[in-house]
Amino acid sequence: MADAQARQRGGKAENGSASTESGLRHEVDGEIATITLDRPEKRNAQTFATWSELARIGENLPEQVRVVVVKGEGPSFSAGIDLRMFTPEGVPGQGSFGSVAKSEGATFEQRIRQAQAGFLWLRRPEIVSIAAVQGHAIGAGFQLALACDLRIVADDVSFCMKEPALGLVPDLTGTKPLVELVGLAKAIDICLTARTVHADEAMRIGLAEKVVAGGDLEQAVQDKIAELLATNRDAAAATKRLLQGAQGRSLEEQSVAEGVEQAARIKALFG
Ligand code: ACO
Repeated sequence: MADAQARQRGGKAENGSASTESGLRHEVDGEIATITLDRPEKRNAQTFATWSELARIGENLPEQVRVVVVKGEGPSFSAGIDLRMFTPEGVPGQGSFGSVAKSEGATFEQRIRQAQAGFLWLRRPEIVSIAAVQGHAIGAGFQLALACDLRIVADDVSFCMKEPALGLVPDLTGTKPLVELVGLAKAIDICLTARTVHADEAMRIGLAEKVVAGGDLEQAVQDKIAELLATNRDAAAATKRLLQGAQGRSLEEQSVAEGVEQAARIKALFG
């Protein structure tokens, strides 16, 4: 509901903000929204506040936005969850895993669902999300990159799903896209060894769409945005809906879905 209301506000929604607590800033420039993880001195480590703010940005995304870029300031895209959350003291104002696990009210599973909301909206059919990834993308950082439709990476990128090494599972929506991108065997290998995937392998196994020199990352993202914006907005959304649904449908069902979407397109264009 909040999502629908915010989207109805369309272009009148906010066009940018920065939040110290969340470590995020974001700007909207016409059809392009840019979300920047902006705590480089802590390698863009993420907290509950980061995920709440991500969800809030998604809820308030202006309707005109077609491309969302997620990037990190400094040498690392994101070193994952803020390790202070594992300490008894936690993150000031946000508590720790220990305090949340013991707290009454919202269950821990509900807190995880709230955190996941910050990642899930990046798959909406109406937008294409691009992660621009340099340096470390560890744990929650890897999962944030996986939450995006496309990953354009610098040649110094290192992806690592560190959660199992810490006694945890990846729970920020990353397991499904990882399996879909690289296959089950490779996903098991990457997660259960918590090993690092560097740029050449990321490109080879389909984790990255493009690898460029670090200094060329921003331009590569701009070039991709220009290509994406050159297509028809409604056709792009309908096509993304079709592609997203393809794996869950039979060929016959998918063919029917193509016909339904195309009939709507033809009606919109010529009706
Ligand atoms: N949480 C909190 N602070 C962090 C984190 C983090 N995840 N990662 C880095 N920092 C801080 C460091 O403590 C350091 O702070 P300080 O300057 O106050 O001492 C600062 O960021 C810079 O870190 P360095 O380690 O000095 O940077 P370097 O470039 O040498 O190494 C690296 C970067 C490899 C990312 C390293 O910091 C690291 O291993 N971080 C922890 C990664 C991790 O285990 N994340 C959890 C994954 S599991 C999950 O996300 C659910």
